[in-house]
Amino acid sequence: MLKQPNTKYRSFPKVQLADRTWPDRVITQAPIWMSTDLRDGNQALFEPMTAERKMRLFKKLVDIGIKEIEVAFPSASQTEFDFVRTLIDGGHVPADVTIEVLTQAREHLIRRTMASLYGARRAIVHVYNATARPFREIVFGMSPDQVIAMAVSSVKLVRELAEAHPKTEWVLEYSPEAFTGTELEFARDICDAVVEAWGATPERKVILNLPATVEMATPNVYADQIEWMHRNLSRRDDIVLSVHPHNDRGSAIAAAELALMAGAERVEGCLFGNGERTGNVDLVTLALNLYTQGVDPGLDFSNINDIARTVEDCIRLPIHPRHPYVGDLVFTAFSGSHQDAIKKGLAHQRPDAFWEVPYLPIDPADLGRSYDAIIRVNSQSGKGGIAYLLESAYGLSLPRRLQVEFSSVVQRHADATGAEIMPDELWRMFSEEYLEPATTIRYLEHHLFEHGAAQGMRLMLETNGRRITLMGEGNGPIDAVVHALGGMVRVQSYEERSMGQGSDARAAAFVEIAIDDIPGIRYGAGIHANIVTASVLAIVGALNRILNRIEPEAREAVVAMLEKSVRQVA
Ligand code: KIV
Ligand code: ZN
Repeated sequence: MLKQPNTKYRSFPKVQLADRTWPDRVITQAPIWMSTDLRDGNQALFEPMTAERKMRLFKKLVDIGIKEIEVAFPSASQTEFDFVRTLIDGGHVPADVTIEVLTQAREHLIRRTMASLYGARRAIVHVYNATARPFREIVFGMSPDQVIAMAVSSVKLVRELAEAHPKTEWVLEYSPEAFTGTELEFARDICDAVVEAWGATPERKVILNLPATVEMATPNVYADQIEWMHRNLSRRDDIVLSVHPHNDRGSAIAAAELALMAGAERVEGCLFGNGERTGNVDLVTLALNLYTQGVDPGLDFSNINDIARTVEDCIRLPIHPRHPYVGDLVFTAFSGSHQDAIKKGLAHQRPDAFWEVPYLPIDPADLGRSYDAIIRVNSQSGKGGIAYLLESAYGLSLPRRLQVEFSSVVQRHADATGAEIMPDELWRMFSEEYLEPATTIRYLEHHLFEHGAAQGMRLMLETNGRRITLMGEGNGPIDAVVHALGGMVRVQSYEERSMGQGSDARAAAFVEIAIDDIPGIRYGAGIHANIVTASVLAIVGALNRILNRIEPEAREAVVAMLEKSVRQVA
């Protein structure tokens, strides 16, 4: 039992803003988005990302259309510093993207941070110091004036170093860390002093970022704080007002939305809400919330599964199956009454009309996803439906996303026959769909060999009645197959399970793949006594399943690419 909270915690004082205007406002345009996945998000991982994973995520953020990306905390480690240099020296930053880096307001850290950026076309230098009373008094033992002096001298140093490197277009961002716990008058005074020290103008604005470093109150209180600052900062025209909500109370999305209504113009956050503790605000949910209100977020989530798998792979954390818009289960309906309403809604929906399908706030197709009705195939299968039957009768346990994908195959069959589906019928459907799909490319055999530290794969396939041999190397068999296939296949997820026990045990491999330039992701499955063979069968199966649903010319183009890989090897 929780005891006596009123003697341990106090409720957050309300902001004195009786004439607040934000409740009557409506968001009509997207904010400037700033991704801090590679900094705040990266800091919050068990193991920070490698440079290779950071680069992959950077490219994904660019593809999504994010134009301001906080790429590192360069003074924190050599790896961080080097990553910024690689981006600049390697020419990886597109002309319309600005990189940003974070530094504490301390002289030697600022010098090191600035050195990481020299040569950049445009850069945002993000300086912060903590301003809330417990930090001033308990952590740093500084007076309010000393805290202001620290911010001002840091900004002057950034300005001096920036002026010595005029080829770069320098932008200053300042954050009073722990803003949500800072007295508003003090937050205003330090921000005003920073704007003054930078010499900001409407043409050379300062980004003032007001973080909910810790989310401490209901979102309306944050909105009041933002509106108060918006109205009381002395040089508002010289400022881009930014917010940086964290999710300690689970209301970061609401806080960001209300903050936009209250005058903020820019939002910092991470894809799918990664970040310190409960995370930064989730930029994907925020953007898609705007989209479903008819506001163009200016970001591309038309293949959200691909983005999700890349993020999971880079940060090594899973996305919750019920995460808005992206979770594996958010476009599945289990209940009969929901399924009925959705079915009628989808049948009624006209392509040019406003979306009004019951229970679905967004058209899954806009995200490259599909709606799946999970059917309970008979009375015994009530607990787990199809997955339960396949597992109990055949010992085959399916990954969750594959359960969802397969469910629509079963649904089509159930709709067509109207009959109860028995386990042997389910197995037949599973085999037809995943183990023996119609083939453009037929697996014949493979040989795996060691090649130094790498694994080599010689893969024999049949296309158009011709036998082809492909060769590839990689850091494991899956990687070697991908290289043998000419690198056009991207493995989005891989799982293996065993079926049965002892000497009769067989391996089941499940692979989710995408092919470059072909929208959509498909599963393949392979079952074999040998796990490598099961994996190769799964990859070839998934490839065929993708090829089966594209136009013949596109299919021929893929086959031609494979045949080209053969010539390169010969
Ligand atoms: O949450 C926070 O306050 C931060 C700052 C450094 C902006 O991440
Ligand atoms: Zn943060």
